[in-house]
Amino acid sequence: MSDRVSRRRLLRWGLGGITGVALPTAVGGAVGVRLAVTATHRSPSVPRFAVPLPIPPVLRPVSTEDGTDRYEVRQLPAEVEILPGRPTPIWGYEGVFPGPTIEARSGRPVAVRHHNHLTVPTVVHLHGGVTPPDSDGYPLDLVLPVGQHRWPGHHVPTGPSGHGGTAGVAHGARTYRYPNQQPAATLWYHDHRMDFTGPQVYRGLAGFYLLRDDAEENLPLPRGERELPLMITDRFFNEDGSFFYPSLDPDLRERPGVHALFADGVRGDTILVNGAPWPFVRVDGARYRLRILNASNARSYDLHLDPPPPGGGGLVQIGSDVGLLPRPVSHDSLYVGAGERYDVIVDFSRYPAGTSVVFGNRSGAGPTAEVLRFDVGTRVADDSAIPERLGPDPEPFDESQAATTRTFRFLGGQGGLPATINLRTFQPDRVDARARLGSTEIWRITVDPEHPFHLHLGHFRVIDRNGSPPDPQDTGWKDTVQIRGGEVRIAVRLTGYPGRYVLHCHNLEHGDMMMMANYEVA
Ligand code: C2O
Ligand code: CU
Repeated sequence: MSDRVSRRRLLRWGLGGITGVALPTAVGGAVGVRLAVTATHRSPSVPRFAVPLPIPPVLRPVSTEDGTDRYEVRQLPAEVEILPGRPTPIWGYEGVFPGPTIEARSGRPVAVRHHNHLTVPTVVHLHGGVTPPDSDGYPLDLVLPVGQHRWPGHHVPTGPSGHGGTAGVAHGARTYRYPNQQPAATLWYHDHRMDFTGPQVYRGLAGFYLLRDDAEENLPLPRGERELPLMITDRFFNEDGSFFYPSLDPDLRERPGVHALFADGVRGDTILVNGAPWPFVRVDGARYRLRILNASNARSYDLHLDPPPPGGGGLVQIGSDVGLLPRPVSHDSLYVGAGERYDVIVDFSRYPAGTSVVFGNRSGAGPTAEVLRFDVGTRVADDSAIPERLGPDPEPFDESQAATTRTFRFLGGQGGLPATINLRTFQPDRVDARARLGSTEIWRITVDPEHPFHLHLGHFRVIDRNGSPPDPQDTGWKDTVQIRGGEVRIAVRLTGYPGRYVLHCHNLEHGDMMMMANYEVA
């Protein structure tokens, strides 16, 4: 990309609309004033609810050896039609966006060999997976493009033992091994390349990984056509249909980061579900299971059904990020931060046939206030049910049994402030916390102003929010929690594998600004 083009793009952001607001803020005890600036870009407008909801294809294993399902995935450049009549170049797993869904079973290992046919290094992380460190997608464990033997530029580990990586650099391909020793859940896989996760996920490198097990399948939950994975993302587009993303280096080779005006995260004006803009889906008057995943770089959604069903409580949550809840919990709305999953049942037989129900977003405005439309058909026979008992009750957590209490302060990322954890940016060589495998720890996460907290390996339960009981939607085991100011305390269960893992902000632009830390379990 030439300098002239970059300058032209810069100009375009400038004209796109900049809003500034002065906010008082406390940094390291000193009270100052910072300017929170956000820029926007205007995408070509497309009609809403004009295209049907696509369902990502399910990937077939190439073989099954010794009880392990083996998959091959090529990471490919491709062109797809997202906006009518305008081709969008993407980077996709198998050339599609979202990537193909991997269907796995608890206790049955999966091995995925990823081949990098792109122009830059990649890393694959299974989000929510309890994965050994060398398959976890540590951000420095690069897979270089096929045919590339060296990679110039930023943060490149020098070898298996060099510069902070855990598995070292792979040339052309890497096999990721997932033991799947965890209950049924909606997991997802996405790119995690150091410094460039935001733009690489944005170009399309994200897909579902649905983990199933017998316990769940023995429940009478809606299935088959009535189970809808919903990957919600937001994007900006250029007039020619290409994605607009304000990278400092549009080739994603050397200079990481986004233009300063987007430092608080890139929030697009076009909402995509499973890669289609504001799609519609025809549903029977019956129960549906919606596996909601917010795979947006930075945007959170306050989702609600519009109109609500008579009597309310239309979103019946049955699962959290990493598994079934003990009992269903009904909500009128769900606040879904970047990286989080919510497994919900909606009974469309509560609506008269012919009703159009919009999945709305109360934290959006204008076009981003709408996500998807359900067009409800006639009531049909439905042998599904929402059982009163879903997953096992968690053992009661006694705070006095916590091995230790740690504090992580997520600060900045806005208005030119660096994105920091405990006032530090990520250092690959520095271990920020050391924990004992098998222990449970209390982590106090304090944020200013809003960050989605995520850790690899460990799963947690929310203990409280600002000293008050957790929100009803915080129930269950999680790997990501949206924190809207103040403090959340979580009980983290560190089981699985010894090694070094990351915790980070799942606002991907913040993560790329190194709002990330290392922790080691031994
Ligand atoms: Cu979904 Cu470390 O990320
Ligand atoms: Cu953040």
